[in-house]
Amino acid sequence: MSAAIVRIVSELRSIVAAWRREGLRIAVVPTMGALHEGHLSLVRSALAKADRVIVTLFINPMQFNNAADLAAYPRTEHDDAAKLATVGAHILYAPNAADMYPPGFATSVSVSGVSDGLCGTFRPGHFDGVATVVTKLLLQTGADLAFFGEKDFQQLHVVRQLVRDLDIPIEIIAGPTVREADGLAMSSRNARLSLAERNKAPRLAEILVQTARQLSSRESVVRALTVAREAILAAGFSRVEYLELRADSNLAPMLTLDRPARLLVAAWLGETRLIDNVEVALPRAEALHQAAA
Ligand code: PAF
Repeated sequence: MSAAIVRIVSELRSIVAAWRREGLRIAVVPTMGALHEGHLSLVRSALAKADRVIVTLFINPMQFNNAADLAAYPRTEHDDAAKLATVGAHILYAPNAADMYPPGFATSVSVSGVSDGLCGTFRPGHFDGVATVVTKLLLQTGADLAFFGEKDFQQLHVVRQLVRDLDIPIEIIAGPTVREADGLAMSSRNARLSLAERNKAPRLAEILVQTARQLSSRESVVRALTVAREAILAAGFSRVEYLELRADSNLAPMLTLDRPARLLVAAWLGETRLIDNVEVALPRAEALHQAAA
């Protein structure tokens, strides 16, 4: 059965109100479309935990700091709807920009702390755009659960923080990054890679995984990150925007591996900016110590 396409928030609200009267549990999966297996895995997780699943599709102009990037973003609503039909989402909510941001719209949600650094440094205004649209989508759908991918790890932290700070009654659930067979993290931006670039792209994840292993074997953080940065450039990436070790729980910068951590990267391959991140396991002794504490 294909998902019903809804564009108007009042229509969405009356469907959700009817579901509520039936006592159904509702989940939302916010997306910008160009759906791939990463999104579909979130939808499947949502279907496993909720009675009704709304997938939102809105290419949010407010989160693009670059007009060319917004113009080049793939618009594939027809294919997206067909993919959602195969997994069984109930509603595709695809509002128009003019309804989301009507003339006179003047509010911005800005999350400090976790938005700083990493992508926040290189994409000014991006997380204000994300936080504002996610706040609107969560309030518009009134869902009980919302699903976000770990691929956008900093975004996940921003969303958790805003939900906590604004008392939005919703549970945020993270889904693991889904990868191609060669390890490349799935992203709608991968479609922009030339064949030659596509062949180089999996090195990014390989280097991250290798570096995470070295860190867990007590390699110095500064040394491991320096070597990894050089390896990324040697693999054919033109620029490494950031490569950092951050605390898993709050994204605080880390210079020693003394807490559960993430290694996060953004790097350019030709005209395409790729991001990825991996978990960094604590050295065995520290892990045992923390488990016992
Ligand atoms: O991750 C995305 O696709 C977007 O940033 C989101 C969360 C749908 C907000 O526009």
